[in-house]
Amino acid sequence: MPSSTDSLLHGTWLVTGGCGFIGSEFIRQTIAAYPHVNIVNVDSLSYAASPERLAGVGGVGGVADSPRYKFVKANIAHPQEVQSAFAACGTNGPTAIINFAAESHVDRSLFTGVPFVMANTLGVQVLLEAARPLVQKGSCKRFLQVSTDEVYGDIAPPHRSVETDPIHTSSPYSASKAGGELLVQAFIRSFGFPAIITRCSNNYGPWHWPEKMIPLFITRLMAGKKVPVYGDGLQRRDWIHVEDHAAGILAALLRGRDGEIYNFDGEVEIDNLSLTKKLLALANRDESFIEYVKDRPGHDRRYALDSAKSQRELGWKQKWTLDAGLQQTFNWFVANRSWLDKVLDEKYQQYYAQQYDVR
Ligand code: TYD
Repeated sequence: MPSSTDSLLHGTWLVTGGCGFIGSEFIRQTIAAYPHVNIVNVDSLSYAASPERLAGVGGVGGVADSPRYKFVKANIAHPQEVQSAFAACGTNGPTAIINFAAESHVDRSLFTGVPFVMANTLGVQVLLEAARPLVQKGSCKRFLQVSTDEVYGDIAPPHRSVETDPIHTSSPYSASKAGGELLVQAFIRSFGFPAIITRCSNNYGPWHWPEKMIPLFITRLMAGKKVPVYGDGLQRRDWIHVEDHAAGILAALLRGRDGEIYNFDGEVEIDNLSLTKKLLALANRDESFIEYVKDRPGHDRRYALDSAKSQRELGWKQKWTLDAGLQQTFNWFVANRSWLDKVLDEKYQQYYAQQYDVR
């Protein structure tokens, strides 16, 4: 364990992107598990952010009222806004920075990569520069960059990516995330920054924004609509429940070694078609609800991660099986139609039409 762990557990953590799907789960777990940690959630409230994730709608959450939680609306790509967010952490600033803030949808990045470079690359540099004086004076102990398995690119079977594998990106999304990682590596090398990078496989779970495959397919099946499977549907992904991912990030933050990279996966590799069939079964629909659509340009065929290092060094282990996690996620979406009704607004319908109707 790093000597900084105790001091980390008594201070204020700056969490960026905390109104997002994964960041909000991290905040829920932190507030529940660490009574001496305060959280400042910095979020720009872009389209996929949802403060309800922290307000406890749907029987999960409810941390927004905690005296240990504060929200600051700010964009990490804007240095002045980041300074105000740091000031909200108190006179010494944050003791740890956990960077979830990101644009994350590959298909959107293929329309325009500019917001991706702003958030995922420039935003990281701004945060690093803001953190540097605090790291130098010793008040900021850790900088954790939440990254993705997509930086490894397409992986031929049977290999599973390990942390020392090269970066080989395919989409503007993954390239922008790789750019952010490289900037963190530069700070580790140049300034001895106490930073950690985590790379995770595809997440799923409650509160997931319905543009990603699993929540998109669930919401369409709930509405009696077909699901758009790209290409032949034989692309393979490794799915992890968002609770397991957030627990992994906490483990890396508290028990990881400075300068290291940690993979997290769900130990479930499955092709999209087989996954689709599981969702059809949950929704009680038959295969006539599958619609094969034109493939995504540059579509990575397979991602697969090896999380042995995280299991060994951090004592972390996935808890969810895919079948149990999908059932829980499906039930959650059915029980939380009111959130969905809010999310599936006119802007969302425009996105869907742009993405799917003219493929
Ligand atoms: P996605 O959830 O977008 O995650 P990522 O591209 O980051 O892995 O997609 C998961 C897989 O599902 C991916 O292989 C693309 C595929 N997919 C479809 O077949 N149809 C869809 O409508 C979407 C959104 C994804």
